[in-house]
Amino acid sequence: MHPDMDVMSAVQRRIRDLAMEKDVLILAHNYQVPEVQDIADIVGDSLVLALKARDSKMSNILLAGVDFMAETAKTVNPQRRVIHPVPGATCPMANMIDVDSLADLRKRHPNAPVVAYVNTTAEVKAVSDVCCTSANAVQVVSSLDEEEVIFIPDSNLGQYVQSMLPGKRIVIWPGHCHVHTGITVDDIKRLKAAHPGSRTVVHPECPMDVIEISDRVASTEGMLKYALEDGSIEFIVGTEEGLVHRMRKEIPGKIFHPISGAVCPNMKKIGLEDILRSLETMSPTVEMDDEVIDGNRRCLERMFEAL
Ligand code: 13P
Ligand code: SF4
Repeated sequence: MHPDMDVMSAVQRRIRDLAMEKDVLILAHNYQVPEVQDIADIVGDSLVLALKARDSKMSNILLAGVDFMAETAKTVNPQRRVIHPVPGATCPMANMIDVDSLADLRKRHPNAPVVAYVNTTAEVKAVSDVCCTSANAVQVVSSLDEEEVIFIPDSNLGQYVQSMLPGKRIVIWPGHCHVHTGITVDDIKRLKAAHPGSRTVVHPECPMDVIEISDRVASTEGMLKYALEDGSIEFIVGTEEGLVHRMRKEIPGKIFHPISGAVCPNMKKIGLEDILRSLETMSPTVEMDDEVIDGNRRCLERMFEAL
């Protein structure tokens, strides 16, 4: 039984009952709306969701997150039916590079391996060398023998990796996340002035000037872990606001300050009614060509090997 069953609404309980009846594992990203996070079996960052999908023995997986996360779940466990309740929930940054522009870039840097951030389409990963997430980008790039490395598509994450690995020459694609580039030094300074003594923890998709004035840079899962383990009581949370729900729930003794306006509209497209409908109809499912799945899996497996 789900641990929150006693405090759930009627719709939430119906969802849990159907998930159990139909053998569905519900995975939700940290940016999902609170009521969706609360019915999930697992809430996590991109890496946690990929690993839980890979290791799941259940017949079906419902992925509440953006489309590349659902494609990743299907790729790492293709025998399962993977349901993505709102296929229009996509990551604009993942669509900022396509297979043709990557081929052009490779021609200009023929000896450089391509590291594809997990926020890319399955087609792009299938023609890249190794995947990474925000939790392991530095580790993955540093595991490569080559000095020159192509990093796609997030320019902020690419710059952060470059700052951590001065011995590498990173060719950075000019993609960005509109939510994280909207977080500014002024936002952080205002919150620091209002809450003196707070620690600042930010996501590496933030601009470098924001990263430079922060105490810790981490994936959403790493941000939560930092808040749990650090001795401070108050934290400024430099990422999409959804993470704060999980922080407040799992770390009730501490205080969290989100950045006003840091909202990913695509992550918010999935509601309880969408999930209920999906469980009733067991659709829409993620369908991918075998060739794309194979290429995508090779890229993801190289990441798992580098960890
Ligand atoms: P995480 O993997 O750190 O959760 O990041 C995913 C994402 O989309 C950040 O915007
Ligand atoms: Fe994509 Fe940014 Fe939304 Fe994450 S927060 S899913 S990177 S648009």
